Amino acid sequence: MSVKSIAVLTSGGDSQGMNAAVRAVVRSGLFHGLKVFGVQRGYYGLIHNDIRPMDLRSVGDIIQRGGTVLQTARCKEMMTPEGQQLAAENLRKLGIDGLVVIGGDGSYQGANKLSQLGIKTMGLPGTIDNDIPFTDFTIGFDTAVSIVVDAVNKLRDTMTSHERSSVVEVMGRHCGDIALYAGLASGAETIIVPEVPFEIEQVARRMKEGFEAGKRHSIIIVAEGVGKGEDIAKGISDRTGLDARVTVLGHIQRGGTPTHNDRILASRLGDFAVRKLIEGDSGKACGVIRNELVATDIATVVATKKPFNMDLYDLALRLSQ
Ligand code: ADP
Ligand code: F6P
Repeated sequence: MSVKSIAVLTSGGDSQGMNAAVRAVVRSGLFHGLKVFGVQRGYYGLIHNDIRPMDLRSVGDIIQRGGTVLQTARCKEMMTPEGQQLAAENLRKLGIDGLVVIGGDGSYQGANKLSQLGIKTMGLPGTIDNDIPFTDFTIGFDTAVSIVVDAVNKLRDTMTSHERSSVVEVMGRHCGDIALYAGLASGAETIIVPEVPFEIEQVARRMKEGFEAGKRHSIIIVAEGVGKGEDIAKGISDRTGLDARVTVLGHIQRGGTPTHNDRILASRLGDFAVRKLIEGDSGKACGVIRNELVATDIATVVATKKPFNMDLYDLALRLSQ
């Protein structure tokens, strides 16, 4: 049975492109004659009834903005059956029968619970981590990688002047994709990720050999899920006596205007989610795989670990000799 009225919310860690996705959901829903609502501050707003009608102008001039105009929140109440019931009730009271959730795997779990309570739900992969399977990329990942690459470009200049090593700590909670893609794109000599075991001795040796072979700097990118950049730098200096400076990029990776790739990904996925709801589908996570739009059971998505791209990892190391 098709939906007549939908809501959209953003949840969990925010990411660049969430606004483009919200815009696509609202404008695609209105285009198809649906009523559309926006939920402020994720599941917290859903449970506390912070829900307002949206029109075409509600999402004007936001495609280029980072963050999320609907804001986001982490909400413990949504982890409880009472909170989930209240969320579903608040939607039903407003006649809302469909919900688009833009967030990561935790947010997907909430969407799945609402789907089991009869609300038709669609999940969109909104996180910079790229740790969601059944989509090649998540909304915000491309922008986060471009921020890291830009930072490493700057670091290369000053490291070369002083013939130093630079340890760059990047985000990624439990997933090394930001480190991997930014490492390959910036020509980093070493990429340290949770998915690949590493020995600090090996890192130090590779760095020393690089300088002996005539390199004038060394870039080491470490995903936060492995550990602190400070500890890696100390391990290197203790073993080589060579200078290593540390840069922790932190939340700068989560701000700024989304790249065109993230805006296009978000726009395609937001429109797709609305069309799936209109078809009567529910409990699905939307994604793009080899440029094809796909919808996968949320239960399957949250039970699956995103595969790590070892080919890309090996390529990065081969090319940074
Ligand atoms: P992300 O969606 O980026 O993984 P979180 O893991 O913080 O971010 O989850 C965001 C929100 O989703 C949580 O604050 C909570 O409200 C909701 N949530 C997370 N896990 C569950 C769950 N198992 N059941 C219901 N809601 C959940
Ligand atoms: O999940 C996205 C993410 O940016 C992770 O990469 C990071 O570890 C985490 O969120 C930081 O969470 P918070 O913004 O709550 O500090």
